[in-house]
Amino acid sequence: MPEPIRHDIATRADCERLVRAFYERALSDPIIGFLFTDVARLDLDVHVPRITNFWETILLGAHSYGGGAFRPHIELHLQVPLTRGHFDRWLFLWAMTVDELFAGERAQLAKAHATRVAVAFESRLRTMHERGMVAAAMPAPEPAGALPLVHQYRRARD
Ligand code: HEM
Ligand code: HEM
Repeated sequence: MPEPIRHDIATRADCERLVRAFYERALSDPIIGFLFTDVARLDLDVHVPRITNFWETILLGAHSYGGGAFRPHIELHLQVPLTRGHFDRWLFLWAMTVDELFAGERAQLAKAHATRVAVAFESRLRTMHERGMVAAAMPAPEPAGALPLVHQYRRARD
């Protein structure tokens, strides 16, 4: 059987398909599945549209995601410390799902941006630990539409 032709990510429906396929894997994963099912008790009906907004914003230039992605990860981390191993596993499952369904520049960007975010989250959590700040670390809610500083630098340069 020849491999089916994989297209690049082009629509919101593609983003949603990717996100759903990822969670199907992640929720039953022996290493990180329990974080979603037992600890966070993820409600996919609420979560899927939000995370689809996130990827639509990054990959397709939509403005449907308002920011604040780090916060739920602190909440989770306060219950079960998120380790480098958890993040590596998350990225592995994400890359596998992207590659299985799509191919192209946006598919590459989906993997690259997930890696940047994972590295940033992991390092922010670790820094908080080193400073003994985890419990007090909840950031103030960010204004809608706010992006992290890294993008503001980028905009200033553009
Ligand atoms: C068109 C291009 C891009 C878009 C639309 C985009 C969008 C986003 C969004 C929506 C978030 C989540 C923000 C939040 O919830 O607070 C994010 C996080 C992040 N992005 Fe991008 N991004 C882009 C390009 C880049 C580039 C070029 C870099 C670095 C070279 C980058 C590095 C990061 C990092 C490190 C984070 C995590 C920040 C943190 O929470 O510590 N992004 N991005
Ligand atoms: C071990 C790794 C990770 C775990 C266990 C995890 C788990 C979770 C959980 C439980 C939520 C909250 C869902 C809810 O209750 O609504 C969430 C939200 C989210 N996660 Fe992760 N996550 C991980 C890594 C990442 C990475 C690497 C990214 C970067 C692409 C990411 C992006 C997001 C976004 C955008 C949200 C939605 C935030 C919002 O509601 O606005 N996560 N994650």
